[in-house]
Amino acid sequence: MTGVKIDGKIIAQSVKDRVKKAADELKNQGISPCLATVLIGDNPASATYVRNKHKACEEVGITTKDRKLDANITQMELAKIIDELNTDNSVHGILVQLPLPEQLDEFATTSGISPLKDVDGLTPHNAGLLAMKKAALVACTPSGVMEMFDYHDIDLEGKNIVLINRSNLVGKPLYHLLLEKNATVITCHSKTKNLTELCQGADIIISAVGDRNKFTLTSDMIKEGAIVIDVAISRFQEKLAGDSDYEDIIQKASFATPVPGGVGPMTVAMLLKNTITAASLSSQIGK
Ligand code: GUN
Repeated sequence: MTGVKIDGKIIAQSVKDRVKKAADELKNQGISPCLATVLIGDNPASATYVRNKHKACEEVGITTKDRKLDANITQMELAKIIDELNTDNSVHGILVQLPLPEQLDEFATTSGISPLKDVDGLTPHNAGLLAMKKAALVACTPSGVMEMFDYHDIDLEGKNIVLINRSNLVGKPLYHLLLEKNATVITCHSKTKNLTELCQGADIIISAVGDRNKFTLTSDMIKEGAIVIDVAISRFQEKLAGDSDYEDIIQKASFATPVPGGVGPMTVAMLLKNTITAASLSSQIGK
């Protein structure tokens, strides 16, 4: 059996088409949606990601502000810049690209973003709302994965899902989103025992390890007809790779995502969607 490819480029484009329409409507109401990005230091991968986000914004009619900061910036200086963006009424969404240089604390940094402008869904306020099924702004990669399930009408109710990641940006928000859909979710991590057996029993595997030297998901680790969502992206043997080889997995899976061209484009599309949501939120509170 060969499964169906979940094509992130096509699904992301359908999200972008909707976002563009929503951006046009907001502009007709006199609101020009704007995303501010904050890039600290000179991590080349982060610089590429931020560039791609700006390009995507331009495609759908979202304006951008680009703050590039010195790698040695202090926590206080960064907090001041984030505060300026919080109070700038022309800015609707704020994204601080992660990871941060060593001297900066991730929690202190992201907690300083106004929850109404928190397009990454990383503030304690928005993370808490998600846990209570009340979130308006949800982390982009997790909501992108949910959009993929929706696009293919994949029913999650009662499904056994093995989620291999427990980060604030991916695993924890996904856990809540999947639970909302009545799935049974096992959240796995580096200390999980019997990971292979857990994968072999899963209806759906969502894998986001991102280090092939530590973990590879192979077709002998999944059951016939399983669904595999590969969230990881890293360099392996001179190429971009996920946690699995798509060509191997798709022989046995009913649906699977490739890398690249799977979850990656969804993250960017959902960032655009969140920026529109944030712009609508700010218009509702009269900013
Ligand atoms: N670094 C890798 N992924 C992300 C993301 O979704 N948001 C931010 N802010 N940084 C990232």
